[in-house]
Amino acid sequence: MKFLRQDQQKEFFSERIKQVPRSFIRDILQVAVSPDFISFAGGLPNKKFFPASELKESANRLLGKLSGDVLQYSNSEGYLPLREYISTYYSKKGIDIHPSNILITTGSQQALDLLGKTLINEGDFVILEEPSYLGAIQAFSVFQPTFQCVPLMEDGINTTLFEETLKRTCARLSYLIPNFQNPSGISYSEETRKKVAEIAINNHHFLIEDDPYGEIRFGGNALPNIYTYAPSNTLLLGTFSKTVAPGLRIGWVVAPDEIMEKLIIAKQAADLHTDIFAQQLVYDYLTNNPIDEHLKIIRNAYSIQANAMMDALEKHFPDDISFTRPKGGMFLWATLPKGYSSMELFDLALKKKVAFVPGTPFYIGKTDSNTMRLNFSCTDPDTIFEGIKRLADCIRELQN
Ligand SMILES: Cc1ncc(COP(=O)(O)O)c(C=O)c1O
Repeated sequence: MKFLRQDQQKEFFSERIKQVPRSFIRDILQVAVSPDFISFAGGLPNKKFFPASELKESANRLLGKLSGDVLQYSNSEGYLPLREYISTYYSKKGIDIHPSNILITTGSQQALDLLGKTLINEGDFVILEEPSYLGAIQAFSVFQPTFQCVPLMEDGINTTLFEETLKRTCARLSYLIPNFQNPSGISYSEETRKKVAEIAINNHHFLIEDDPYGEIRFGGNALPNIYTYAPSNTLLLGTFSKTVAPGLRIGWVVAPDEIMEKLIIAKQAADLHTDIFAQQLVYDYLTNNPIDEHLKIIRNAYSIQANAMMDALEKHFPDDISFTRPKGGMFLWATLPKGYSSMELFDLALKKKVAFVPGTPFYIGKTDSNTMRLNFSCTDPDTIFEGIKRLADCIRELQN
């Protein structure tokens, strides 16, 4: 059903929303739904590992002792025991964060929106990694910043260009994903983390450190969050989407007092508070079950799937295609030789019933690219092999 004529659309919508790119990934997911399709396009955690029966027990417990409070309006900051749990989680990693500096949000996606509302004016410079997370590009675009993109290297953001960009633009804010980045799977080395922190401190700059994948590490040793090195300059985001279940929509942001005060106002204006039943559900689940055992299962499965994908790429892809080798998270990133279009490859792939996300939407202002995001979290190893073989055939077709 259409409400507006084409010629009415220009005036009807705000300038703000007209700036926001639509999600190409949503469009792809709608294409790749038939059962014979192999999709590496999604960005979803594997639903096999949602702790459904444990959550059911938690829900029963909560509803069993129903005093009404679990269904009542609640405070904007979030359920205190859950904020205390998160504070304890950080203290086990050697990070001291008071619960009053933790705001529970409706997924970390909402934290991005609230930070945009609170910190970005039209035209402000915001530094992004290149490529960057599409959801952040969308969330920040609403506030009409001028994005400055700094390339990712094998060991994280290019710190020389980061510092140069920051000095040139006097940008106040950067958005970084140092662990198993979406889309590239790249992680920052310890040295890069320290350097970024040092640059932020020296330039009175704020970093948004988004860390949805840190707990999904299946290789190497955990590295400290950038927050550890620059706590007064870092807004740290977390989520239970990849460790428990994304549909519950429970995330959080860690911020200093002055910023927290404004974030709470923005939160109130947005939705009063995050679903209190879901907050208590997650808390009950976390405190009645061995979460470390659960994480081991996820890490083990993703490790097998990631390795299957890397083996398949090694075996089937032509030698002139490079790819990242993530030690965690849900994605890897492949680069075709210069001059090739991953958009064209995508069209060929659809005919062979295999899907991925072409790199273009993860960049600002690029109309085409030679890169592609491949998701491994939702596909079993045999299907991964078959899908990569099909993709390799498409690449050869493209190269001929
Ligand atoms: C880098 C990054 N940040 C944030 C999010 C949003 O997660 P949430 O489900 O907590 O809103 C995602 C989801 O895929 C993500 O990849």
